[in-house]
Amino acid sequence: MSPLTVTRTLPADATTAALRADVAHGLTRTPKQLPPKWFYDARGSELFDEITTLPDYYPTRAEREILISRSADIATATGARTLVELGSGSSDKTRHLIAALTGLHTYVPVDVSETALTAAGEALLTLHPDLTVHALVADFQQGFALPGTPGPRLLAFLGGTIGNLLPEERAAFLRSVRDLLAPGDALLLGTDLVKPEPTLIAAYDDARGVTADFNKNVLNVINRELGADFDPADFHHVALWNAEREWIEMRLRARKELTVKIPALDLAVPFAEGEEIRTEISAKFRQEGVREELGVAGFELSRWWTDEAGRFALSLAVRA
Ligand code: SAH
Ligand code: AVI
Repeated sequence: MSPLTVTRTLPADATTAALRADVAHGLTRTPKQLPPKWFYDARGSELFDEITTLPDYYPTRAEREILISRSADIATATGARTLVELGSGSSDKTRHLIAALTGLHTYVPVDVSETALTAAGEALLTLHPDLTVHALVADFQQGFALPGTPGPRLLAFLGGTIGNLLPEERAAFLRSVRDLLAPGDALLLGTDLVKPEPTLIAAYDDARGVTADFNKNVLNVINRELGADFDPADFHHVALWNAEREWIEMRLRARKELTVKIPALDLAVPFAEGEEIRTEISAKFRQEGVREELGVAGFELSRWWTDEAGRFALSLAVRA
């Protein structure tokens, strides 16, 4: 079996420094906000995996349906020898792609969650003992170098995670992705699509409360890493549809007036009753918007596939 290589692109204390900066900035501004990447410690990654199995959370099932029916087309169109995946998490759906890419030599999963990367890499090597798996612990928004592996490369960004970036962040991110790729390489992008509000709200405020626990997990991360004294029970999980921006917003709303101490930042953060922290946006897309954003970043949309119900899309794009 090939060994699993895990490379940290950042010194171990850089993660804490980035969390400190994001918390110091995000909780002292109005309105308060935190970037969604801090959901994903080991517990947060487990909670996300549980979300993907919920009846209300359709995106994972919809994207898997497309991957099952289209992976052979993707393999023919790209002939990829290296598959890079950003925000790979459990790499569970990626198995369909890996099985179809018959000439695949190396898989490079990239994620901030080292626990998710290690578990996913080990599981994949059991299924594909000859595959080289070179996992990168990295922030895909910070710019990172890819290992020198055989081309052509296919860079996958699945799950609709691009929707967790603000429009200006998406533009910078897509340009940086384009700069990582060489002529003949391709991008496979998963995007959740605009649909009626009740379906969206149910997906982000599920009946079992798993999404609420996932949302509140960011408070546990800040408590553990920065010594803060958040009581997650003091906050209410909120999911709203912003019809103008066409995105879901997840927020944490203070149930009462309170002050949270964050010793590592020497900070006391006051909350009024009802005051909110925006913890995530999850943008929903239309084909023309995806084509436009890809085009501005220097990509040409070559294929667009949706699931039968038209809930989710996979786009294949090449460097223009
Ligand atoms: N692609 C998987 C997982 C999606 S969950 C799927 O479709 O099911 C989002 C994943 O992106 C998590 O594993 C999280 O740890 C990772 N992630 C979020 N923000 C990130 C960032 N800025 N850099 C790297 N990984 C990130
Ligand atoms: C990872 N990302 C695409 C998920 C989403 O749907 O925006 C994260 C998530 N947030 C709440 N539920 C799932």
